[in-house]
Amino acid sequence: MRIVILTGAGVSAESGVPTFRDADGLWEGHHVEDVATPEAFERQPGVVHRFYDERRAALSLVDPNPAHVALSRLQAAWADDVFLVTQNIDDLHERGGSVHVHHMHGELRSALCRGCGDHVRWLTDLADYPPCPGCHATELRPDVVWFGEIPYGMDLIQMQLQRCDLFVSIGTSGAVYPAAGFVQFAAAHGARTLELNLDRSEGTSLFDEARHGPAGRLVPAWVDELLADISG
Ligand code: OAD
Repeated sequence: MRIVILTGAGVSAESGVPTFRDADGLWEGHHVEDVATPEAFERQPGVVHRFYDERRAALSLVDPNPAHVALSRLQAAWADDVFLVTQNIDDLHERGGSVHVHHMHGELRSALCRGCGDHVRWLTDLADYPPCPGCHATELRPDVVWFGEIPYGMDLIQMQLQRCDLFVSIGTSGAVYPAAGFVQFAAAHGARTLELNLDRSEGTSLFDEARHGPAGRLVPAWVDELLADISG
């Protein structure tokens, strides 16, 4: 059985990483169009850099939770047949033990050079305009996909969705496309679909099955169930 797992901010919530859509519609006090669009970066690069620099620095204060660890356990047991795609820009799946993670919205711990196009592993600040290690241009930007930009690796994701038998969405509101459309795409190609989320999402009715509760409890229980099924 081939499995595609899509994760969103909810899988990292219990680690202390804030989700995007809190009650007042702000992302950590900012309107998303002020920090997560190419136009915002053109207008106020210092503001955007500082916003992502703070998020990058905050990563060292958080740890993976049982949901991340359970998914890495599933990947290890299921070998090549689990494709893990995340909308998250944190690195908690990797620190939870996952080896292959497709970051469709980019990564905080990476910088993208607008001069040479290189993706560079980056752990410190960008607001002081450091040079690109490859071409030395001071053109580094956060390696994250902003609104209006195309997520990374859509061809690969679509291919995985077309061939999977089970599509599982974990901790995502189903508010942002193209990820919000994956459930319908996978179902149209014959996959069974399962949602694991804290509460009903915008897409809940599109899934064959939905389980609601915190990811730190739901995900390990679901992984145990699946692994018991194959071993039994
Ligand atoms: P959201 O903040 O939109 O949604 C988080 C979802 O996680 C909600 O449905 C919550 O109910 C759920 N949730 C919260 N705590 C949870 C927990 N402990 N266990 C399980 N679920 C929990 O985040 P995303 O759907 O990831 O894009 O947002 C998608 C994209 O919108 C992001 O990648 C980002 C953002 O704007 C870009 O920056 C391009």
